[in-house]
Amino acid sequence: MRVLITAGPTREPIDAVRYIGNRSSGRMGAALAEAAVNAGHQVTLILGPVSAAFANGLRRIDIETSGQMHEAVLVEFPAHDLLIMAAAVADYRPKAVHAGKTPRQESLTIECEATADILAGAGQIKRPDQRTVGFSLELAGNIGRAREKLLRKKLDLIVYNTTETMNSESIEPSLLWPDGRVESLARLPKARFAEALMARATELF
Ligand code: CTP
Repeated sequence: MRVLITAGPTREPIDAVRYIGNRSSGRMGAALAEAAVNAGHQVTLILGPVSAAFANGLRRIDIETSGQMHEAVLVEFPAHDLLIMAAAVADYRPKAVHAGKTPRQESLTIECEATADILAGAGQIKRPDQRTVGFSLELAGNIGRAREKLLRKKLDLIVYNTTETMNSESIEPSLLWPDGRVESLARLPKARFAEALMARATELF
């Protein structure tokens, strides 16, 4: 199977030296990429700026902004069977990027605009032979929001997990399918979960 994985954070520039980022470590994506390679899949990884180590034996596309990730997904998705969006894509980006370094001021207001929803976009161009899988990072107890995203983004599977997962070696996820099925897993290392998720993703075809 040809598997496209996105991972890590995005950085949205404010000026030539500053950006808005997030705390994603990329570890979940690293584990997924490794599990997919080990399962014998052909893997493309679209990766934001992270320090995590990544598996050999895959094609890696490094990006920085959500716009670059969006472009890369649009180019790559048609040649893949499965898209797993594990990236923590910025929801907003500064509307204007200042050239050079903005000098210090008494206060600074940055006007932001919403970024494109990459996964929802992929859901719209998805062929009947393709599948999309997303992640939903929520405050504990908000599994209903994950179900809403599963349907709104036309996903085949969504992983609900809580904010405690961030920067952690382990995850306590629930898997949700469009037919209403839910599978809740006991807390497990991200590497073990990645293997389980790849197995479930294979069953989507
Ligand atoms: N995602 C995406 N493009 C974005 C934002 C998120 O493709 N601009 C993907 C993420 O990679 C993840 C899923 O969508 O797989 C998470 O969606 P969501 O929870 O909607 O992200 P948030 O924007 O954090 O949602 P909300 O702010 O409503 O909690």
